Amino acid sequence: MATARPPGRGCRALPGWLLGAALLLGLRLCMELHREGPGSPGRRDPPGPPRPHLLPPPGPPRSARRRQVTYVRSGRRALPRGGGTTTPEPSCCTLRGLPRRKGPRWHIELQPWAGPAQSLDEEASRFLSYISTTQIACDHMGTDSLATDSSPATKPWLVCLDDRFGLAHQIRSKRCRLYSLGLGSDDTHFEVSMANDGCEVHRFDPSVKSAHVLESQRLWHHRLSIDWRDPHPAVAAQKPHSNTRKLGSILNEFGHHKIDILKADLESAEWKVLENLILEDVLEQIGQLVFEIHLHWPGFEVSGSESSVVRFWYSLLKELEQRDFRLFHTHKDVSKPQLFLKKDIFNASSCYTLSWVNTRWK
Ligand SMILES: *[C@@H]1O[C@H](CO)[C@@H](O)[C@H](O)[C@H]1NC(C)=O
Repeated sequence: MATARPPGRGCRALPGWLLGAALLLGLRLCMELHREGPGSPGRRDPPGPPRPHLLPPPGPPRSARRRQVTYVRSGRRALPRGGGTTTPEPSCCTLRGLPRRKGPRWHIELQPWAGPAQSLDEEASRFLSYISTTQIACDHMGTDSLATDSSPATKPWLVCLDDRFGLAHQIRSKRCRLYSLGLGSDDTHFEVSMANDGCEVHRFDPSVKSAHVLESQRLWHHRLSIDWRDPHPAVAAQKPHSNTRKLGSILNEFGHHKIDILKADLESAEWKVLENLILEDVLEQIGQLVFEIHLHWPGFEVSGSESSVVRFWYSLLKELEQRDFRLFHTHKDVSKPQLFLKKDIFNASSCYTLSWVNTRWK
């Protein structure tokens, strides 16, 4: 009896200490897992074969997985705010935080040829008449000529101040923003005058002496040039502070969602920059465009036969029209060489200044 009892008692007694031990073990396991949970991805990094005995039990991994999910979720939530804890460059994360594209486009839509012969004559005639004809009337055009004396060298950078387009209101309420893209031009008449009128002005010019200069209360100079592509990743890795950026990237970096006026004097880079603004839907963030266009040669990275180059220019401007931009002012610069694709033809100038208003702008 006594011998039969011990096993029985033992059997009854066993759960006592075994349960305690199991509880302790379970508790430790729990704590271990808890400590290991979020950190485990990093700990798996050291080289070596995976340790299978750590993986199997079906119970714990599930809870670990659950914990990992919440970690990932909270981590993602923190990303745009914190600007990322592991990456030193804050711009990268702001950029990732703001998806812009609805769907990437790689080419603009080319318009049909102007005529059956696909000749330069036909293309040039259509293009020149297009850039010489305004599409909408603007009754109040603002200009730097409002400010003091306008020298003959001053270019007719004109914006439309009609109330229906909202710019005048933005200026009055000091909420207007002007981006000015240039290449070493020292004529800042327009920028100074717009800043005095109440616009926040950002002038991008690679020849500026320091990275960012605040010249007056609202006039910034940035040592940046606008390109139609971001630097190649390999180049960017070697030169992390490259001065070249796409306009969309700068908007993301600066946290700007809207530009009331985009002025560009890019010495023939305007065609590819314009193409980039179209392809990436940056245009819808812009209220008015004032561009100097150059016709004496195809422009940077524009090539093809003469007639196809002119067709490409025309197609770019038609894309603006399709996005509800309307030409309200056009100026032929007769002080510049009268050259069209290197030839003195069609009584054209090598340089025109065109102003568009985004009629969908609010
Ligand atoms: C050529 O252009 C100038 C300046 O725009 C203009 O005054 C002139 O009438 C034009 N000539 C012809 C033949 O169209």
